[in-house]
Amino acid sequence: LNYLVPAKRKEILEILVNGLKRMEYRGYDSAGVGFEGTNTKNGSHELKTIKQKGKVARLEEEIAQTTDLDFEKEFDTHIGIAHTRWATHGEPSPTNSHPQRSDPSNEFLVCHNGIITNYKDLKSFLITKGMVFESETDTEVIVKLVKHISDKHKDSAISFRELVELTVQQLEGAFSLVFMSSKFPGECVSTRRGSPLVIGVKSKAKLSTDHIPILYSKGGVDLATEKSDHRGLMNPALHHTDSTTEFHPIGNKEVEYFFASDASAIIEHTNQVIFLEDDDVAAVQNGCLTIHRIKRTLDESATREVTTIKMEIQQIMKGSYSSFMQKEIFEQPESVVNTMRGRVNFETNQVVLGGIKDFMTEIRRCRRLLFIACGTSFHSAVATRQLMEELTELPVMVELASDFLDRQTPVFRDDVCFFISQSGETADTLMALRYCKQRGALIVGITNTVGSSICRESHCGVHINAGPEIGVASTKAYTSQFISLVMFALVMCEDRISMQDRRTEIIQGLKNLPSQIKAVLETDEHVNTLARELYQQKSLLVMGRGYNYATCLEGALKIKELTYMHSEGILAGELKHGPLALVDKAMPVMMVVTRDKVYPKCMNALQQVKARHGRPVLLCTKGDTETQKYAYNYVEVPQTVDCLQGVLTVIPMQLLSFHIAVLRGYDVDCPRNLAKSVTVE
Ligand code: G6P
Repeated sequence: LNYLVPAKRKEILEILVNGLKRMEYRGYDSAGVGFEGTNTKNGSHELKTIKQKGKVARLEEEIAQTTDLDFEKEFDTHIGIAHTRWATHGEPSPTNSHPQRSDPSNEFLVCHNGIITNYKDLKSFLITKGMVFESETDTEVIVKLVKHISDKHKDSAISFRELVELTVQQLEGAFSLVFMSSKFPGECVSTRRGSPLVIGVKSKAKLSTDHIPILYSKGGVDLATEKSDHRGLMNPALHHTDSTTEFHPIGNKEVEYFFASDASAIIEHTNQVIFLEDDDVAAVQNGCLTIHRIKRTLDESATREVTTIKMEIQQIMKGSYSSFMQKEIFEQPESVVNTMRGRVNFETNQVVLGGIKDFMTEIRRCRRLLFIACGTSFHSAVATRQLMEELTELPVMVELASDFLDRQTPVFRDDVCFFISQSGETADTLMALRYCKQRGALIVGITNTVGSSICRESHCGVHINAGPEIGVASTKAYTSQFISLVMFALVMCEDRISMQDRRTEIIQGLKNLPSQIKAVLETDEHVNTLARELYQQKSLLVMGRGYNYATCLEGALKIKELTYMHSEGILAGELKHGPLALVDKAMPVMMVVTRDKVYPKCMNALQQVKARHGRPVLLCTKGDTETQKYAYNYVEVPQTVDCLQGVLTVIPMQLLSFHIAVLRGYDVDCPRNLAKSVTVE
């Protein structure tokens, strides 16, 4: 964050901490800030850090209690960086928190999002050069490396940006980085590779341009020949890039820049943003922003655009709800409308998906459809698989991204691969995307985050338009992904005469969904009483089959994530092949039994559970007294078309896990050990 408007230190720290609070869903086991200060003894410029284990609120307390901060001091120019962490290397602790420092005098500080895979080699190298490491993080090698390179160049006029360029050439893995340095007061350098980074620009005056020309270094380093050993480091001259003297500022002096992993951290300050591409290096110096690249390849754009994002601050506020998750569950009647808006015409039964319409001919001709995702997003593909097979009559593969990559699954040029991701940043999903793209398949992104890596790297795609989802456990994104996939299946069969009745039935079903979701949400009080009965249990089995199987998987995932209870989603058809052994009168069991084609088979499973003295709680069709007779307790959902029923049956499971977590006293929005977007493999 670069501040070129006079501000008090107190305001600067507040902006940083508030930004972190908005980002907290990405990780929350420790947090830290780095900012500029003056050494009271000798008046020199120096950097300070405050770091704390736990949530951002703990850091805020720590800042308030730090007495020598001179909160009222005013600065004309100010840089501050801050970070909230989800530990990959090294347990959560102040030392392992970011910013990481180059040395005890804080000459360089860095915040890092992502993972450095070659950190061990770099660390060994730097230790031989006399560097002393204090943390267990992979990040520390980055900042020590900057210092090492800077020391090597101490007699030349190398810029901060060039130092960072030289450093990142040695890094492997994924990162977005933001650096500050006491050697370069008032400057900030930031770069990314594989992890997201957005720059917000706030200016009172109109910006002088909305396209920032990229500056290319004239020399450059051939990464291919240099990166595998450290020859370059030992002989930094090899790496020296010719600095460019051109300067293409945007804005004027009265401008503030915000660097963040996602737009929700900065939207309260500005909606003017620039999404950086991999290997862009952005530098702020004298209030001017420039974007640099080492080399230009033929097909890449020579500018970065300043875009206006449409996100309202209310969308990322809790309002009257106790948690974001609760708000997001209750938003579903509207979020599903937003997913269908402008796409489904309920009068003419037409469905148009603008983001893929030009690719439909190619998609219809494909050999197979692959749906690849992680976590909840994977469940949305499971939920719609049967309909996808029915309406497309194509082979449909549904894959967990990590397993798909582990297997090195064969992919062909005439495959169409869908990557479903709320954040659009999940590392496993992104790696799988690149794997398929390399093999020539058509790549379709289904994401909730405009400008995300998956969006940008796809050939075409569908934005699910559910609005920002902050609660770590995904809820409204799931129902919107579900509906997006249904809409895609409907587009696939629009010309098939034999399928018109089915299409009409589904489209009319979609029309009624928002009011039916409202009706399901009215069961909230009843679900809360169920939660009171269940919250001290150790385990919960969730059974069902057919279109409701995904609800079982997703319901069990919600229970695990939020309540830390053991929970399993069980395909009722597999009950007798093992899980039945778990059933007795003490084992809590939920069963999804709605009136569709597999109803008789679900009833069999229900009888089998009853015969073992199980006490099933049913999720069943409204008014189905026949089935309710067998229930220990039940929650009713309205009937819809079979293939859409999962949108309704999942909601009581979302509510149940929410209430159990509250009763157990857990943090609903930030479950332990998890993060919203997992940008590491
Ligand atoms: C994390 C989140 C889950 C999410 C999964 C996939 O594990 O905690 O809620 O379902 O990532 O995320 P994506 O953003 O790709 O949908």
